[in-house]
Amino acid sequence: MAEKMDAVKTVDLAKIYHGKEPVNALKGVNIEIKKGELFTLLGPNGAGKTTFLRIISTQLLPTSGEAYVLGFNALDQAEKVREHIAVVPQDVATYGNFTPWEYCYYFSLLRGMTKQKATETAEKALKAVELWSLRNRTCAALSGGEKKRAIIASVLASDADVLMLDEPTSGLDAMARRKVWTVLREMVEQGKTILLTTHIMEEAEMVSDRLAIISKGELISQGTVEEIKSSVKEKFRVVVEGNLNSLDKMFNSNSSVRFGNKRIIYVKDGDEAIELVRKSLKAGLKAEASPITLEDVFVKLVGGEENENQKND
Ligand SMILES: Nc1ncnc2c1ncn2[C@@H]1O[C@H](COP(=O)(O)OP(=O)(O)OP(=O)(O)O)[C@@H](O)[C@H]1O
Ligand SMILES: [Mg+2]
Repeated sequence: MAEKMDAVKTVDLAKIYHGKEPVNALKGVNIEIKKGELFTLLGPNGAGKTTFLRIISTQLLPTSGEAYVLGFNALDQAEKVREHIAVVPQDVATYGNFTPWEYCYYFSLLRGMTKQKATETAEKALKAVELWSLRNRTCAALSGGEKKRAIIASVLASDADVLMLDEPTSGLDAMARRKVWTVLREMVEQGKTILLTTHIMEEAEMVSDRLAIISKGELISQGTVEEIKSSVKEKFRVVVEGNLNSLDKMFNSNSSVRFGNKRIIYVKDGDEAIELVRKSLKAGLKAEASPITLEDVFVKLVGGEENENQKND
C-alpha cells in the first residue's frame, strides 16, 4: 500500500474553521514525506502550516481528506500514530515547576523507556541544545529561548520515529538556531523522519531534504530545493546599486524589483547575468551576480501585495 511507504501522506486534506466567518485553512493538500528525510513546510503567516501539523499529529480533525503517519490513519488510528511521533508545538507553554532535565527524563519514561536509557538520552539531548548547565533550573526561571530549547530537547530525547516541530527555531538566537539545525540533521542521519515548519528561507534551504511551499491553504510547490528553484525560469539574480535612473530602460525587459538605489534583476542564464554585470560596471554602478535564492523563488511563487507593486514598478 502506498501509504505504508511514506512517513506522512495526506490526500486532499482540507480544514475549514467554523467561527463567525468560516476560514478555509487547508484547501485539499497532498503531501508525501518519505521515511528518513527532513521535510520542511514553508509558508507565510496564516498559510496553514500549524493546521497541517496539528491534523497529522492527531490534535485536530480535518474537514475532509485523509492523513496517514507510517501507514496509520491519523483519524481513526490516532493512538497508533501517537506511539510513533513527538511534537514541539508552536506556542511553548512549559510547566513552570519542571526543569529541563525532568522534561527530558520523565517524558521518556512515560514513553516506556528504561531509567537507564532515559538518563542517557536526556543527557545527550540537553547537551545537544546546550542546556546541560541549566538542566536543574525550573522552566519559570528560564528565558523564552531556553524554554523552547528544553522542549526541543525533550522531543530529541524521545524514541519517536517521526519528529514534528512547529517553528522550532523562532525566538532562538543565530547560534542556538544553527545548533538546532545541526542536531536535527544528526537525528535524520540516525534514521528519524523530521517535519518542521518555518518561514525562514535560510532554514528551509539549509536543512531540508525536501520541502513544500504552502500559501493560503494551498500547496504551491513540493520537492527538493533545486526542484523548487527549477520551477521558475530565471536562474540568476544580479544586484545593481547606484544611480539607476539612467539605466532603467536596460532593466525593463527583465523581471526586476527596486529598493531605493538597489535593484535585483532576475535573468535566465549565466551569460545574461555576466553581460548585465559588465554593462552596469561600465556605467559606473556596483553589480554582483549570483544564483537565484529560495527566497527569490518563494516571492515569485507566493506573490502577494508586494509582488503586485513590484510589477507596477
Ligand atoms: N482555531 C481557529 N479558528 C479559526 N481560524 C483559525 C484557527 N486557527 C487558525 N485559524 C486560521 O487558519 C489559517 C491558518 O492558520 P495556521 O495557524 O495553520 O497558519 P500558520 O501557517 O501556522 O501561520 P503562522 O506562520 O503565523 O504560524 C489562518 O488564516 C488562521 O487565522
Ligand atoms: Mg503556525
